Amino acid sequence: MGVDNARELAVREALKYLIDFEVIGVGTGSTIDRLINFMASSKDLLRGKYFVASSTATALKLRDTGFKVFDISSTDCVDVYVDSADRVDRNLNLIKGGGAALTMEKILAYYSRFNLFIVDYGKLVDSFGGEDFIPVDVLPQSLSLLTNQLRRLGYKFSVRHCGKGKYGPVVSDVGGIIVDINLRVGEDLLEFDRRIKCLPGVIETGLFVGLSDLVLVGYADRVDLLRGRRFLRMY
Ligand code: A5P
Repeated sequence: MGVDNARELAVREALKYLIDFEVIGVGTGSTIDRLINFMASSKDLLRGKYFVASSTATALKLRDTGFKVFDISSTDCVDVYVDSADRVDRNLNLIKGGGAALTMEKILAYYSRFNLFIVDYGKLVDSFGGEDFIPVDVLPQSLSLLTNQLRRLGYKFSVRHCGKGKYGPVVSDVGGIIVDINLRVGEDLLEFDRRIKCLPGVIETGLFVGLSDLVLVGYADRVDLLRGRRFLRMY
């Protein structure tokens, strides 16, 4: 009940920021599903807005709820991007990809003019550490060679498998395989990201460093604002 209420409060707060923008990029996951439900009950405030989805699931949900969805390939500008995350640290870095949509999520967040993330208090940590695994989207053909190289570099990892509904590895929204790679204790986030991204076959990582402008952290009775660089310039 606590987490549920916390998420709901943060979702409701998020809508206040979205109405300032015209083209809205939308993330993926249960928090975002909840946001879309809330948006559907506040349609008057969102008249004239256009949406770009980070996944098929989100595109379908937006469309079924009656919103206009643009294809990302014909979109040259995103005014605001809204999403959730699996974990957030105090420097506003994020771990994303629990829903395997991290590549499109990162593209939208990188190119958007303003990024807003909605989380509940259970996802906020002081810093990421040795217990964290970073989801990485990998080209299927490179999987064996790449995982061998990860072993040589001393990384612990696992290829993510479906619980049910499909036999075998999880296939991402862009057709990749998701490999969850352990962030080593004390490892610098940017260094990790650079090292992994330069391995041929890696499509994208779920580590979002320096991409949050505002994180809304929901608690049972309030929403805290963690403000990033562009927030301070825009508000
Ligand atoms: C999707 O790939 C993820 O990045 C999600 O944004 C993240 O896992 C948060 O999902 P929930 O809102 O379901 O917790």
